[in-house]
Amino acid sequence: MGVVEKAGGLFAAELAAGRPASVPREDADSGGGARPEAFDLDFEALARQGFYTPEDRSSRLSLELRAVKRRLLRRLGRAGAGRARGPARRGGGRRRNLVLVASTRAGEGKTFCAANLALSLAFEEAVPVLLVDGDAPRPKLRGLFGLAPTLGLADLLRAPTLEPDLVCLKARQAPLALMPEGEDAQEIAALLETPAGEQTFARLSAAYAAGIVVIDAPPVLAAAETLALARLVDEVVFVVEADATGAPAAGAALDELLDVNPNVSLLLNRCLIAGAASYYEAYGDYGEAGQAAGAKEGEGSER
Ligand SMILES: Nc1ncnc2c1ncn2[C@@H]1O[C@H](COP(=O)(O)OP(=O)(O)OP(=O)(O)O)[C@@H](O)[C@H]1O
Ligand SMILES: [Mg+2]
Repeated sequence: MGVVEKAGGLFAAELAAGRPASVPREDADSGGGARPEAFDLDFEALARQGFYTPEDRSSRLSLELRAVKRRLLRRLGRAGAGRARGPARRGGGRRRNLVLVASTRAGEGKTFCAANLALSLAFEEAVPVLLVDGDAPRPKLRGLFGLAPTLGLADLLRAPTLEPDLVCLKARQAPLALMPEGEDAQEIAALLETPAGEQTFARLSAAYAAGIVVIDAPPVLAAAETLALARLVDEVVFVVEADATGAPAAGAALDELLDVNPNVSLLLNRCLIAGAASYYEAYGDYGEAGQAAGAKEGEGSER
C-alpha cells in the first residue's frame, strides 16, 4: 500500500475511532487532498509543565529563551534587532534553516529546549516554525501538545515526495506546526541513511523557506540516528544539563557531533547562576568559530 493510500486508511480509521487531532478535512485549495486538522495550543497545560506561554513574556524563561533564540538566528544568518529577517542560503541554493536539538544522554532537556525555542520563535518573532519529532525511540512532542498518534516524519521518509503539510499538524494560535514521529517510527534510523533522508530534509527546508525547522533528537550516546540527523541539518544546539552531564561523556558526544557537522552550539540547561534558579545560560559556539565562545556575550543589547 502506498503511503498516500495508507494515509487515507489511517485517517479513516482515526475518524471512526473519534480522534479529532488527526482527522483530515477536504481542502478545496489543495485540490481535494486530505490535510490534518489544526490544533489548539493548551497554554494552561504548557504552563503547568514549565513551558513558555505568550502571556508571560517577562518571565525568566522567556528572557533566557530570547537570548538563546537571537543567537541562534544570528548563526542562521538572520541577525538583527527586532523581528527576524529572511533566512540565509547555503550551498546549492538551499536555505540555512534546519536546527537539531541534541544532547549526550536522556533527560537533559532536549525536548524542553526544542519546544520552548519553537514556541518562542513562533510567538515572538512571528517566524513560521516546524517542530519535528526526530526522537523515534522516545517521541514526546505529541504528548506534550495532547495530540493522538498520526502520520509524521517516518511516513515522509518513506515517501519523500509527499507534501510535508500532509503530515504536519498546525497550531491555530501561532505560525507553528508539529510533525510527529509518524507510524512505525523505529524505521526512521534506517531511512535517514538512505537518499530519502537528504531528500526529505531538503524538502522540509524548502517547505519552510521563510521559517525554521526545529528537530528534537534522541541522545547522541544512545541512538545512531542522532548523528544521521546531525549530518542533514544546518545547526546543532547541543544541550548540556548543568551539574548532571558528565564532562567526559559530553566531550565524547560533542566530538561525534563535530565529526559530522561543524556548526554546533552549546546550551547549558538548568544551571544556577549567583544563587538564582536559571533555565538556560552559557550559549557557546563551536564549529565555524572553532572554539567555544564566552557565555552571554552581547546578549543584553539584543533584548
Ligand atoms: N530548564 C528546565 N526547567 C524545568 N523543567 C525542565 C527543564 N529542562 C528539562 N525539564 C523537564 O525535565 C524533564 C526531562 O526533560 P526532556 O524531556 O526535555 O529531556 P530530553 O533530553 O528530551 O530526554 P529524552 O532523551 O528522554 O527525550 C521533562 O519533564 C522536562 O519538562
Ligand atoms: Mg526528548
